[in-house]
Amino acid sequence: MRSHYCGELNSSHIDQEIELSGWVHRRRDHGGVIFIDLRDREGIAQIVFDPDRAESFAIADAVRHEFVIKITGKVRSRPEGTINPEMPTGEIEILGYTIEILNKSKTPPIQMDDEHVHDDIKLKYRYIDLRRPFMQHNLRLRSQIAKEMRDFLDERGFLDIETPMLTKATPEGARDYLVPSRTHPGNFFALPQSPQLFKQLLMMSGMDRYYQIVRCFRDEDLRADRQPEFTQLDIETSFMNEEDITGMMEEMLITLFRNVLNIELPSPFPRMTYAEAMERYGSDRPDLRNPLELIDVSDLMKEVEFKVFSGPANMEDGRVATLHVPGGSSLSRKQIDDYTNYIAQFGARGLAYIKVNDVAAGTEGLQSPILKFLPDNVAASIVERTQAKDGDLIFFGADKTKVVNDALGALRNKLGQDLELLNGDWAPMWIVDFPMFEYNEDEKRWDSLHHPFTAPNTTDIEAIKENPGKTLSRAYDLVLNGTELGGGSIRIHDAEMQSAVLELLGIGEEEAQEKFGFLLDALTYGCPPHGGIAFGLDRTVMLMAGCESIRDVIAFPKTQSASCLLTSAPSAAGSRQLRELGIKLAKQNKPVAE
Ligand code: AMO
Ligand code: AMP
Repeated sequence: MRSHYCGELNSSHIDQEIELSGWVHRRRDHGGVIFIDLRDREGIAQIVFDPDRAESFAIADAVRHEFVIKITGKVRSRPEGTINPEMPTGEIEILGYTIEILNKSKTPPIQMDDEHVHDDIKLKYRYIDLRRPFMQHNLRLRSQIAKEMRDFLDERGFLDIETPMLTKATPEGARDYLVPSRTHPGNFFALPQSPQLFKQLLMMSGMDRYYQIVRCFRDEDLRADRQPEFTQLDIETSFMNEEDITGMMEEMLITLFRNVLNIELPSPFPRMTYAEAMERYGSDRPDLRNPLELIDVSDLMKEVEFKVFSGPANMEDGRVATLHVPGGSSLSRKQIDDYTNYIAQFGARGLAYIKVNDVAAGTEGLQSPILKFLPDNVAASIVERTQAKDGDLIFFGADKTKVVNDALGALRNKLGQDLELLNGDWAPMWIVDFPMFEYNEDEKRWDSLHHPFTAPNTTDIEAIKENPGKTLSRAYDLVLNGTELGGGSIRIHDAEMQSAVLELLGIGEEEAQEKFGFLLDALTYGCPPHGGIAFGLDRTVMLMAGCESIRDVIAFPKTQSASCLLTSAPSAAGSRQLRELGIKLAKQNKPVAE
């Protein structure tokens, strides 16, 4: 039904007779001639109908936005003065011969060039929203990125192997989506939070190198970079250590950016330990484009009379840190109050500051409500350590280390945005030497920082049991511009170590057998050393497309409350279906309303 795509036409096609099919993007009546901008996947071409061809002219006059039409005509150059350099097809137009309406359209709820359509309307009419050039571009980019990843891995001997969707829970830290079994009433499958256990089993099966572009399901609180179902590029290898794996993955990302965006990522990617990242940035996914750093001043505050500072400075899990903002003394009282309110959501109880007016003048040159609590030599040491200059501002956070890191880490990001401090376009990095466990205060037990199959960096089981909080793991995360793109690790391949780690996590032998017995068994039948990684495909595409949300790179995403406005899922199940599944509802369902 076409000889060309609209968007591929240019002056090399002049005088050719062509056939196009697509959607009416725009229609204008210009002093007796009708212009139709016809749109298809590849772009837009301008068709002109003049009254000489009366029958075609009448049809062209009748078409409206989003009608699907087929035209024939002849390509000609645009008259002098009407060339549109903004448009790829802007040098030419098509003199329309015939026009056929293939389908009409009601007035669409989304105008193609309206930037301000409400999100709910976009999601309800996603098939129309996806016609917009922005979404067409994003989904095409996504397809290209996936292809590059496949090509790279295929060239290196990776096998694309599928793993089950109806399975048992994988502990990645979120709630599971459950699927009731009809054949085993009262029993449930879980949708995979990741293929973690299966990919490890594939290594035990001798597959050596596995990858899969795979859907994962996690019932967790949603954010701009989190969806309940999302896609991973999931990878596992045998007989490769952390340097081998991170090295190859780095090469993959460099190749991806080069081939898709024509961008050279800085190489090699810097590596930073978790401890250093927390100390300097208050975060394990710092945006290295942001020059601001946290500087610890706990040692200077131990003796001061200001309890707000000396308290945390003397606590084992406390911290007093500064965030030094060059030029920040121009921040107004109101701006500082707004930042104080902003970090309250992370538990911060205040945001002390010193404005540095004149370094040479000593304490006289400083301005702050807290100066009266600080001896002159401490104030001087703070200025020296932060290397603050005239016109700068120093913020302070004092609290439990976690609160200070969360609050100043977030403030660092916010200041980076607000004051436009970001340098360069792309800042990839590896974070390594993660703690193996983190203490869960609410539940009074140890949790895995990654997942329970991550190998510790020691084979000494007793040492781990003695000091779980100090044990490091063999995990690595790939961070790009402050987003965690991927995470992986070398795995435990020893049954005894795996049991010990599960036990430390409070998973007793019986529960371990019930939940992961198959894995524990498999570890005893010749398991090779192995490790891998998973990248968030949605997040990768989001960053490469320059989008703010992964919704913009997923064809049919869910809302903030994990529902689909297009299909109205989730929805009630019929009583017969429920009976067959042996399920009785404790609460009647409420229809999903946004
Ligand atoms: P992890 O849980 O770190 O590791 O997930 C890997 C990557 O998946 C992406 N991601 C998400 N993207 C969108 N929405 C979500 N809800 C979401 N959750 C995670 C992130 C993240 O870095 N099995 C391990 C990997 C391994 O050890 O090999 C795993 O799933 O980009
Ligand atoms: P206050 O004595 O409570 O009025 O606090 C004096 C200054 O210290 C104010 O600017 C507060 O914002 C700040 N402040 C209070 N608590 C903290 C804290 N935990 N960390 C950093 N600054 C704080």
